[in-house]
Amino acid sequence: MKIATVVGARPQFIKMAPVSQEFERKGIDEVVIHTGQHYDYDMNRIFFEQLKIREPDYYLGVGSGTHGYQTGEMLKRIEEVLIKENPDVVLVYGDTNSTLAGALATVKLHIKVAHVEAGLRSFDKRMPEEVNRILTDHVSDYLFAPTKTAVRNLHSEGIREGVYLTGDVMYDALLYNIKVARETSDILNRIGLKSKTYLLATVHRAENTDFKKNLESIVDAFIESEETVVFPIHPRTKKYLGYYGLTKKIEKAENIMLIDPVGYLDMLVLEENAKKILTDSGGVQKEAYFLKVPCITLRKRTEWVETVEDEWNILVGADKEKIIKAIREFKPSGETYSYKFGDGKASKRIVKTLIESGGKIT
Ligand code: UD1
Ligand code: UDP
Repeated sequence: MKIATVVGARPQFIKMAPVSQEFERKGIDEVVIHTGQHYDYDMNRIFFEQLKIREPDYYLGVGSGTHGYQTGEMLKRIEEVLIKENPDVVLVYGDTNSTLAGALATVKLHIKVAHVEAGLRSFDKRMPEEVNRILTDHVSDYLFAPTKTAVRNLHSEGIREGVYLTGDVMYDALLYNIKVARETSDILNRIGLKSKTYLLATVHRAENTDFKKNLESIVDAFIESEETVVFPIHPRTKKYLGYYGLTKKIEKAENIMLIDPVGYLDMLVLEENAKKILTDSGGVQKEAYFLKVPCITLRKRTEWVETVEDEWNILVGADKEKIIKAIREFKPSGETYSYKFGDGKASKRIVKTLIESGGKIT
């Protein structure tokens, strides 16, 4: 059986790492196609180096642009590779434009699509990720769902064939890498901070960056919290802070430690040692839960509902007062139940399912 994997954005490199390693262990032929959606060293190559992911066989170099441009260019270029390689199954991950382009190019060539992280829904179609998820799920042959909620979401849209509850590959990645991170990362020394003395923040979702009011409100909340906030800044957010004339304000704030995006191992250590995490990232919300760090989510909705139901995650949107209140007061009282995201063997289950079906699911 021949597999092709389409990736392109930071979280996808992390998600593919345990699955690709399992393909290698099982001697399965995998062709890796990198769309080039993320291309800066610290959004891209650092993950291949740290996680020892094999080099992409094809680097399509699509880069940045509007949704239509980016998705369209990817579609054209992925199609060319798939025609040449003729794989049995194409694996796509998550909910980015690279995911949708990979799925569309594949289904139109009558090749089987496998979606890892199928069935997630925020029920907000203004989020580009939600559109990507829905469309990808509806053309997929294998739907690898990370949680029971994801399976239920698929059922409620009439998708029952090819749905497998596997657990979450990001949980696999974390369980493996947290030990390596604790042993090797010196990030706390590098930034001169002690464990549990700071908040960690990440912001990059369009709903926050693309509206000055929202981004400014978030920045003001960080500043007015008077807590030390470590803020590895996504290039999208850096760009918008510049557009809105907010760069100086944030650079001048003594309690904000603005740093470049960090590698996965440093990120895990920053997360585990934070007092609280503020984020609009999907992956970071889950990692906070796995590491038992209270999470304040800068969104109104989340697809990772388990983290909210178990009261380790609170949704505050971009509302300054709500953010500050949560920074001061939010305190989970109960337990976390990471088993809701599997047992760390999602990748093995995915590869086993593909091998056993021989890529011939109907
Ligand atoms: C994308 C995904 C989002 C995911 C995020 C992970 C879509 C629609 N969005 O958002 O779901 O959560 O990745 O991080 O697919 N840029 C650089 N260097 C890079 C990459 C991007 O400077 O290496 C800048 C460019 O100005 C670009 C902007 O960031 O226009 C946005 O990049 P893009 O890939 O379009 O979307 P993300 O915001 O990264
Ligand atoms: N991440 C990282 N360095 C950073 C910020 C995030 O390694 O500076 C990791 C984070 O630990 C998680 C993943 O990137 O595993 C999440 O990706 P991102 O927030 O870009 O996208 P999302 O999950 O929202 O799609």
